[in-house]
Amino acid sequence: MCGIVAYKGHKNCHPILLSGLKRLEYRGYDSAGIACINSNDKLVVTKRKGKVSELKSALSNSEIYNLGIAHTRWATHGKPNQLNAHPHLDQSKKIALVHNGIIENYDPIKKFLLSKKIKFKSETDTEVLVQLIGYFYNNGKMNFEQSVRAALQRVDGAFGIVILNTDYPDMMIAARKGSPLVLGIKENEFFIASDISPIVKYTKDIIYLKDSEMAVINKKSFKIKSVDKDISLPKNIEKIDFKIDDYDKGKYKYFMHKEIHEQINTIPNTINGRIKNESVLLQGLSDYWNIIESAEKIYITACGTSWHAGLIGKNFIERFANIPVHVEYASEFRYNHALIDSKTIVIAISQSGETADTLAAIRKANNHGALTIGICNIAGSSVSRETKCGVYTRCGHEVGVASTKAFTSQIVVLYLLALKLAESRKTISKESLKRHLDYKKSVNKIKSIFKQENDIKKIAKKYKKANDFLYLGRGLNFPVALEGALKLKEISYIHAEGYPAAEMKHGPIALIDKDMPSVFIAPKDKTYEKIISNIQEIKSRKGKIIVITDSKNDKVLKELANDLIVVPKTNHYAFAIFASIVLQLLAYHIALDKNLNVDQPRNLAKSVSVE
Ligand code: M6R
Repeated sequence: MCGIVAYKGHKNCHPILLSGLKRLEYRGYDSAGIACINSNDKLVVTKRKGKVSELKSALSNSEIYNLGIAHTRWATHGKPNQLNAHPHLDQSKKIALVHNGIIENYDPIKKFLLSKKIKFKSETDTEVLVQLIGYFYNNGKMNFEQSVRAALQRVDGAFGIVILNTDYPDMMIAARKGSPLVLGIKENEFFIASDISPIVKYTKDIIYLKDSEMAVINKKSFKIKSVDKDISLPKNIEKIDFKIDDYDKGKYKYFMHKEIHEQINTIPNTINGRIKNESVLLQGLSDYWNIIESAEKIYITACGTSWHAGLIGKNFIERFANIPVHVEYASEFRYNHALIDSKTIVIAISQSGETADTLAAIRKANNHGALTIGICNIAGSSVSRETKCGVYTRCGHEVGVASTKAFTSQIVVLYLLALKLAESRKTISKESLKRHLDYKKSVNKIKSIFKQENDIKKIAKKYKKANDFLYLGRGLNFPVALEGALKLKEISYIHAEGYPAAEMKHGPIALIDKDMPSVFIAPKDKTYEKIISNIQEIKSRKGKIIVITDSKNDKVLKELANDLIVVPKTNHYAFAIFASIVLQLLAYHIALDKNLNVDQPRNLAKSVSVE
């Protein structure tokens, strides 16, 4: 988590750093800060609790700086307040540092530094690192670069850091291990950030720092060096071809609302160019297709919403291609005794492409010789670079912390992948494949869901005071229920649980009373009758029932449900997407009615880049 942006060049760095921080605010938004070196070679540091806008108002424009580092924080060690905000300084106030990641052995290092009479101002692990650099610099007869290297060699954990030193007013050092950092290069200008989004509008020449690499920028040149030894490494400059996404809410009050509505376009965009002559084309997988199609076992690994998409993917792949699929939380996969080898395919799903647990899972799979596939939204992200091959979800920048359009695009990619596998392995007939690839037409019916937004708003108003919700669905719609519950929890702070509908009577039914709403995802499919029985079980315990179905003019549901949303009839698979959109809107309107900040809910960050 946390966002870093840094600049060295001839321009005034404040606007560059502030607009960069704004782009990175999705990584954390509990405090922000900037440190620059002024023309008298002094550090000028401004920090504020809260959003980047607070920092912006606090900055003085009386001076121009050409060298600066900035940070937006998601607290790990120490409360979210001004004191704990980055940049942090060493005791001599010459060295300033911004840090993403966690220094795991900060405690013994802090004790050592305290024994050397170093005083700490914050509760952070980051201050420990900058004080250690300062300790080596001020006491160890080391130059700036040597002292950074000496400190980094003594820390355990993850770091992406950028450091300034007033004794070296032309120099900026960046280093990474576990936490991504990107260097952008332009004539006599250098940009560093935790992802490319703050950089792409200035330059297309990028170096993705690898683990244990340092970028040492000095005057008008730079070197890539090793953190472990004083040696230079090759400069792997890549030309990137990404456009900066529209970063504007348009007519919407919140990005989340905009992003929910964007699904009318993002879903077709994920499909476009990937169905040709009644066949699926996934270019990003073509080099490895002979391995993929003969997979004996597939693991899908991801976190949060992406994990829910993985559960839906399992259903698709097992159903169409007859390959057993295990879906594991990346945070568990990385430590579990996973049975993976060179015959295993590991699919990692991530919107941001920077989730630390998902990256660790990919690294583990790569080390075991498995073929890793990334399903990811951000081109150039760590997931896209560390997997062997992959498919982009192509749904555009997702700003709202609650994932919406990325989820439905992930479902679409997994659907296409399952059908392609089935086609190659001949586990699907030509007619059936053709029928399934008509998906695009069904998806076009999404527009009509939004015609019911007013009805969903009314339902939101009615239930916004509930303390708990149950979300219930079967088969494909069980992960849809999990995702609906997660959306509600994240942005409305109402406790919600997703369950397979039939499991409800094995425990959660004890919670049911007149104040507890249950949301049923109940299409008219082979489980319909069973779901009706589950609804009746809740009804007879006075529970409130909200139903999302595709069964039009359904007298039974009308009778049983307190509130009913009917989406257009399509195929079974598109229904999962339609229902998800309804659940996104329901969560959104409940949170909005409670006057909450929908895009930046408390305690969360868009990209969880710490373990
Ligand atoms: O970027 P990723 O897809 O890897 O993120 C995984 C989760 O952190 C993410 O889906 C999280 O659960 C969202 N806030 C869900 O809305």
